[in-house]
Amino acid sequence: MIETIKEHIAEVEKFKADSIEAVEVFRIKYLGKKGLLNDFFAEFKNVPGPQKKEFGQTINQLKQAATEKVNILKNSLEKSSEQKSIYGDLTRPGEALEIGARHPISIVKNQIIDIFSRIGFNVSEGPEIEDDWHNFTALNLPEHHPARDMQDTFFIQTNPDVLLRTHTSSVQVRYMEENKPPIRTISPGRVYRNEAISARSHCFFHQVEGLYIDRDVSFADLKQTLQFFTTELFGKSKIRLRPSYFPFTEPSAEVDVYWGLETESDYKITKGTGWLEIGGCGMVDPNVLTNCGINPETYSGFAFGVGIDRIAMLLHQITDIRLLSENDVRFLEQFKSAL
Ligand code: DAH
Repeated sequence: MIETIKEHIAEVEKFKADSIEAVEVFRIKYLGKKGLLNDFFAEFKNVPGPQKKEFGQTINQLKQAATEKVNILKNSLEKSSEQKSIYGDLTRPGEALEIGARHPISIVKNQIIDIFSRIGFNVSEGPEIEDDWHNFTALNLPEHHPARDMQDTFFIQTNPDVLLRTHTSSVQVRYMEENKPPIRTISPGRVYRNEAISARSHCFFHQVEGLYIDRDVSFADLKQTLQFFTTELFGKSKIRLRPSYFPFTEPSAEVDVYWGLETESDYKITKGTGWLEIGGCGMVDPNVLTNCGINPETYSGFAFGVGIDRIAMLLHQITDIRLLSENDVRFLEQFKSAL
C-alpha cells in the first residue's frame, strides 16, 4: 500500500496542466470528498500497528504534494490568462498624467476678463494684421499726424496700408462699427512695435483695451471702473489719473496705482515714488465716435488700455520680459499652481 501511495506522489509531482479545468479534475481526483486521499485515510485503521507511522507520514506527503501542485498550477494559469486580456494587465497601477501649466500671460488675461465680466463687460477680438483705418485713421490719427511716430509700426511688405497692430485700440473701432451702444467690452490681444528688445521691452506684447459707450457716461464712471479693476486685481484701491495725451481720447490720462513703499521691492518697482503706471485712458474723442458711426451728440464713453505683460511681471516677480516668449519649460512649469 505504501508503495502505491509513493507512486501517486511521483505522479503528482510530474503532473502538468494547461487549463484550469484540468487542474480541477486533478484536484477532485486527489483532494475531493471521494478522492484518493480520503480512501487512503479510511484505509489507515486497517494498517497494522508498526506500519501506522510510516503510512500516516506517506499519506500526508501525498496530501501536501497534491495541495501544493493545485495551488501552483492555478496561480500560474490565472496569471497567464490575465496577460492574454485584450486590455493588458488590469491590475497594473495607472500612469499619472503630466499636468500642464497655463502661461502667465493667459493667467493674467483670464483674471482681467473675469474681473470685467463681473461688471457687465463682454470680450471682443480683432485681427493682429490690421489696416491703416482701424489702427490709426479712425482713431483720430490721420496720415502725417505726428502722434503716429509714438508707435513704431511694422508694415507688412511694402504696403503702407497693411500693418501689425500697434495697440488693441483698433478693436474698439471694429466693435463700434459693428455694434450699437450701449457698449461694454474688453479686447485682450497681442500687439507689435518695432522696438529694440531688452529685459523691459519687446517687439511684441499684450494689451487689454476697454470700451464703455452709453448715454451720459462721465469721467467719474471711468475712474470708478479703473478703481474697481485695480482693487480686484492687485488688492490696491488708490489710483491716480495724470493728465496726458492720446489722439483718440479727450481728456486723456495715464493711470497710476498706489503700490506703497513698504518693502525694498516696492521701492524698486515704483522707483521710490510708491506709484506705478499701468496704462492709459480717457473719454473717447467725438471724432472717433463719428468715424465709427456713433452720434457724439447722443452718446459718450470712455476707453482705456493696459499692458498684460507688465502686470504679469509685477504679479509673478518676473524680471525679464523675454522669459514670456522663450518657452523655456523650466520657467513655464513654475505656474502649475497658478489659476
Ligand atoms: N492705445 C494706447 C497704447 O497703446 C493705450 C490707450 C491709451 C488705450 C488710452 C486707450 C486709451 O483706450 O484711452 O499705448
